[in-house]
Amino acid sequence: MSVHLNASEGQIAPTVLLPGDPLRAQHIAQTFFDNPVQHNSVRGMLGYTGTYRGQPVSVQGTGMGIASASIYTHELIHSYGVQTLVRVGTCGSYQTGVHVRDLVLAQAACTDSNVNRIRFQGLDYAPIADFGLLMAAYQRAQAHGFSTHVGNIVSSDTFYQDNPGVMQRWAEYGVLAVEMEAAGLYTIAAKAGVRALTVLTVSDHLITHEETTAEERQTTFNQMIEVALEAALGLS
Ligand code: HPA
Repeated sequence: MSVHLNASEGQIAPTVLLPGDPLRAQHIAQTFFDNPVQHNSVRGMLGYTGTYRGQPVSVQGTGMGIASASIYTHELIHSYGVQTLVRVGTCGSYQTGVHVRDLVLAQAACTDSNVNRIRFQGLDYAPIADFGLLMAAYQRAQAHGFSTHVGNIVSSDTFYQDNPGVMQRWAEYGVLAVEMEAAGLYTIAAKAGVRALTVLTVSDHLITHEETTAEERQTTFNQMIEVALEAALGLS
């Protein structure tokens, strides 16, 4: 038990996928896991543990934003001994060459959040993915033939921007996309010496406003989960 998770000791696998949406956690467990068992119900933030191709694996909803995701990341690592954490989520693209439904592997994550400024007393820390996980995810995505981009993203504290022009600055510096959690995940994992990666599908395009259907989003979401599971568990 930890403050926000009521799984018993040993119930959570060393490898955990982290969607923001608890119902996505349920979908992942029901679609991909063998023998999934729900391990968390606190705050309705659903979490499940089962196996994938014979290997133990868990999935845990994190909620939206660095603040919420950091709580689950911290407790999974420090109360349950989790060693590998792969966030799976959606992002908004800032680049014309990064299309809706493409995969984005977040090599690093900028942020407009103050959490690391506070943590590092005003200095700027560069949160990065685990290289082995990043490489494995890229190789699996290539093997499946999925359209994939690797690079910098930004984890923002605000979904609704008062001044979208501010966000355009990130794009000018090569940032591929925006989401809301990766910088927190990477920082906490780094301090604990565990592995973390963020795998995203582009759900909306902030420049071209390309559209996608719900069915197409579901297909690419499932492709992303396959890549995340294979990379996290070292499968080919
Ligand atoms: N902003 C932040 N997070 C997101 C977005 C966005 O536009 N799209 C998907 N996740």
